Amino acid sequence: MLVGIFGHPVEHTFSPAMHNAAFDRLGLNWCYLPFHVLPERLGEAVEAIRALGLRGVNVTVPHKESVIRYLDRVDDEAARIGAVNTVVNEEGMLVGYNTDGKGFVRSLEETGVIIAGKKIIVLGAGGAARAVCFSLLSAGVSDLLIVNRTLERAKQLAGDINAVSKAAKATGSLNSTSGYDILINTTSLGLHNGDPMPIEDSLLSSSLFVCDLIYNPTRTHLICLAEKRGCKTINGLGMLLWQGVLAFNLWTGIMPPVEVMSDALRV
Ligand code: ATR
Repeated sequence: MLVGIFGHPVEHTFSPAMHNAAFDRLGLNWCYLPFHVLPERLGEAVEAIRALGLRGVNVTVPHKESVIRYLDRVDDEAARIGAVNTVVNEEGMLVGYNTDGKGFVRSLEETGVIIAGKKIIVLGAGGAARAVCFSLLSAGVSDLLIVNRTLERAKQLAGDINAVSKAAKATGSLNSTSGYDILINTTSLGLHNGDPMPIEDSLLSSSLFVCDLIYNPTRTHLICLAEKRGCKTINGLGMLLWQGVLAFNLWTGIMPPVEVMSDALRV
């Protein structure tokens, strides 16, 4: 059975190593391949899932939103998020899911955090923020403060969340973190050397649990500073792992060996 990932670029993805390690360990005759798909060929690539009988694919940048129009059905949470990262081929019917947000929630819960009733600050209002926010909402978060450089985008996301459950507020700048339990960076700030911090240093109080969705580098300036302040932290490797575990399960119906997949991410 074949599965894979559609992306542009796709060369640096860790997903093939992670999934193929699990297939190997389970003795499954499955293979996960990276496919470099240009935006203008996405429709043809999705059609090829059916034509070639792939069991499904992951979808990554820049196709997560645009893939939806080519699918037969999209699961409720993926529809709310407006993005799909996993496609399952059910005998020719292509169904879209989003395991990114659930993967993040799972990685946070793994540390012992109980999300129900928590007050959370989310930095950013792009695709990653949408996935994380809607999954946090399903997990019972009580307050979500969306902070984004472009205020309009934060307001749009807060409005979409509040249409489901009145938990969100939006702001263009963060003045205080007091009363909040968790801070999550979903912006791209920290990916590149020399990026500014996504929040002011003085706002990092030791009681905050600080999460950065970035996993390369594994320790962003935000994570380093938060640790110095005594905060508990996680980076984005857990989310990468668990979105993969959940996708694997959707394709195979099997719970994969998580340790094997996690080890594959460490190389
Ligand atoms: P993703 O799918 O990874 O979330 P995205 O949809 O392009 O990617 O969103 C990127 C996020 O990082 C946005 O919240 C963006 O803020 P804007 O909506 O104002 O663009 C944020 N971001 C990117 N570069 C930034 C910067 N230099 N300063 C502040 N925020 C930044």
